[in-house]
Amino acid sequence: MANLEYLIAESQNDFNACADMPTLENAKAKYLGKAGALTEALKGLGKLSSEERPAAGAAINVVKQAVEAALNLRRETILNAVQAQQLSQESIDVTLPARAQSQGGLHPVTLTLQRIEQLFHSIGFDVATGPEIETDFYNFTALNIPENHPARAMHDTFYVDESNVLRTHTSPVQIHYMEDKAPPLKIIAPGRVYRVDSDATHSPMFHQVEGLWVDENISFANLKGVVQDFLQKFFERDDLTVRFRPSFFPFTEPSAEMDMSWNGGWLEIGGCGMVHPEVFKHVNIDSEKYRGFAFGLGVERLAMLRYGVNDLRHFFNNDLRFLSQFNK
Ligand code: PHE
Repeated sequence: MANLEYLIAESQNDFNACADMPTLENAKAKYLGKAGALTEALKGLGKLSSEERPAAGAAINVVKQAVEAALNLRRETILNAVQAQQLSQESIDVTLPARAQSQGGLHPVTLTLQRIEQLFHSIGFDVATGPEIETDFYNFTALNIPENHPARAMHDTFYVDESNVLRTHTSPVQIHYMEDKAPPLKIIAPGRVYRVDSDATHSPMFHQVEGLWVDENISFANLKGVVQDFLQKFFERDDLTVRFRPSFFPFTEPSAEMDMSWNGGWLEIGGCGMVHPEVFKHVNIDSEKYRGFAFGLGVERLAMLRYGVNDLRHFFNNDLRFLSQFNK
């Protein structure tokens, strides 16, 4: 028992020879592990007489504490060296400029819809909405397009099931609105519409804005005035004019295609007409007393012209190089 003191110097030598934590843990086992020299010595205390035991125990503990102190000192030295090494390799250059933050923006079609709503709002139109899945009745029948009527074939309809469709136009919102409210009525109905069609100028989903004004003395002249006034403001061109070409829609009579002057020519921008008496009949409005006009404009068309976009598909590809140009 007397000669355990040599362990202090020996362990110091062993510990100091360790360059990393795993080897230090190994070296520790030699002294303090289950079969280590000091652990064995403590076990040996049991063989001593009760007189000898306290002094021997104290002597072992003094050595043990010295070995533990040597171990801790070495551990600290190694950990400091590891940290210093890490810090020198993982240096942070605080002078680097921050990474740029990019801000999201509204989609050009949304911007266009907002502009349309704002302009019509300024002349007293409310905004109405309706469901995108419509019954056959709202999308067709109530709009004077009876079953088996050839006009249904004009619409390239997506059928949800036998009696429900993805609305092919925003005109069914007219019906919902007139069912709920009595004239005078003055609304636009912007929203998504769906048709089985897809190429550079057609998308299976696109947006329309419906217009509807019902009152006692509404005329075709009001229709043309409102549309032309709107387009002049929308495109910021006072000299823009609108031309009506005779056309056919089952829910308006008379009906017209609307063209607007553009770079010396004419561009078609939607359909319109005076609300058909059959449509009024479906919603219990007296067509002897009231008249109304309705129109439907293509929103992507207006957005393409306003922003100079030449392919409709840009609006739906979600390419950030395109979309970020509209962040303002
Ligand atoms: N709903 C018609 C279409 O989508 C457009 C339209 C609306 C025509 C209102 C006349 C009146 O083609």
